[in-house]
Amino acid sequence: MAITPNPHKTTGLLGWIDDRFPLTKLWKDQWGEYYAPKNFNWWYIFGILSLVVLVNQLLSGIFLTMHYKPDAAQAWDSVEYIMRDVPWGNVIRYLHSTGASAFFVVVYLHMYRGLLYGSYRKPRELIWLFGCLIFLCLMAEAFAGYVLPWGQMSYWGAQVIISLFGAIPVIGNDLVVWIQGDYIPSDATLNRLFSLHVVAIPFVLVGLVVAHLIALHEVGSGNPDGIEVKKHKNPETGHPLDSIPSHPYYTVKDMLGVGVFLLIFLGVVFFAPDGGGYFLEKPNFEPANPLVTPPHITPAWYFGAFYAILRAIPNKLMGVIGMFGAVLAFFALPWLDRSKVKSIRYKGWIFKTAIALFTVTFILLCYFGMQAPSEIGTLVSRIGTAIYFGFFLLMPIYSKIDKTKPEPERVTYEAH
Ligand code: HEM
Repeated sequence: MAITPNPHKTTGLLGWIDDRFPLTKLWKDQWGEYYAPKNFNWWYIFGILSLVVLVNQLLSGIFLTMHYKPDAAQAWDSVEYIMRDVPWGNVIRYLHSTGASAFFVVVYLHMYRGLLYGSYRKPRELIWLFGCLIFLCLMAEAFAGYVLPWGQMSYWGAQVIISLFGAIPVIGNDLVVWIQGDYIPSDATLNRLFSLHVVAIPFVLVGLVVAHLIALHEVGSGNPDGIEVKKHKNPETGHPLDSIPSHPYYTVKDMLGVGVFLLIFLGVVFFAPDGGGYFLEKPNFEPANPLVTPPHITPAWYFGAFYAILRAIPNKLMGVIGMFGAVLAFFALPWLDRSKVKSIRYKGWIFKTAIALFTVTFILLCYFGMQAPSEIGTLVSRIGTAIYFGFFLLMPIYSKIDKTKPEPERVTYEAH
């Protein structure tokens, strides 16, 4: 059968492939000739960094799985074996455990960029929604992974989180037993969390990331001015006047960003892999013991804010609803923000104050969520929970009455 020659006029091996598979087309569409606004600042690096950490987690995870035993009687010892006997095993484990924290650092900053520049607004609502689903998966993935070493905090963390489902009326208690596969966290629980962590959730996660990027490349990237570059196109080429091809311009910029990130990340992996007890908590250096509860069961830092909200609300069911509601609120953002402009650069003082307040609140909630319960912690968490939900629920009002500045017609950019 005759083959239609590929439209990219490539020759040799590449031409042979392009005649049969759109390799050059894929490269050009997705990166080589993907035109992105020329005024990206460094806030726009965190998407690529999320991809870098995702790849790190998948690769280090594959090697960990080769030596890990998903069995309540062997899991702890197999992790010790990885740390002590497997060649480079300690580095592989720390790449993965520190990688989990790095994932949340870069994803939180990536989401924060969205908040600052209104990246969630029309026409990028679906990119944002895919992002929120990614965030949900990431939380489930981190929780399941944390249980696998079967240390004290793994065990008791699993106990606390799974028992939250017990707050659901009528079916709650049966649901907890069904999820655990036993009356307490046990071998069956460990096995199912292992299969979710290693197979099911990564599959969904990678699928969602692909959908996230397809949606992004369909509508085109936003930028720090929050205006649409597609409004001004070069009549000859059809490309937006204020855009540049990702390659070589953003290839080079991203390589610098990734280099700096790797320096910091590997610095932590090699010199402070437990992050002073924040990335790997101290009680998790003891094997799980169902008979001894650790003095304080606290979550990893990245769940701190949501855990603080759970504890701030006295009623257990309302606490669980509040905690999940705090994550789900992000889904509604594209429809809550009624401002005339997208970017923080042109928003008025009300919106700027709201974002500043939300930022401080989120950090405080994270901090108190990680601490043992205290009077001051409860007070701050209660006020913080009110501010947290106020930020979202009142947004339709304050974003509308906020006095905005006029947006520029073309992007603002000064060549270096
Ligand atoms: C594994 C996690 C993720 C990966 C690998 C990822 C990857 C990316 C990449 C490569 C970009 C383009 C570069 C950039 O604008 O930074 C991007 C854009 C974007 N991401 Fe993500 N992302 C992830 C999670 C999220 C989450 C959790 C959210 C929000 C809840 C989100 C929201 C967005 C939005 C709104 C854009 C478009 C920004 C614009 O063009 O103005 N992403 N993402």
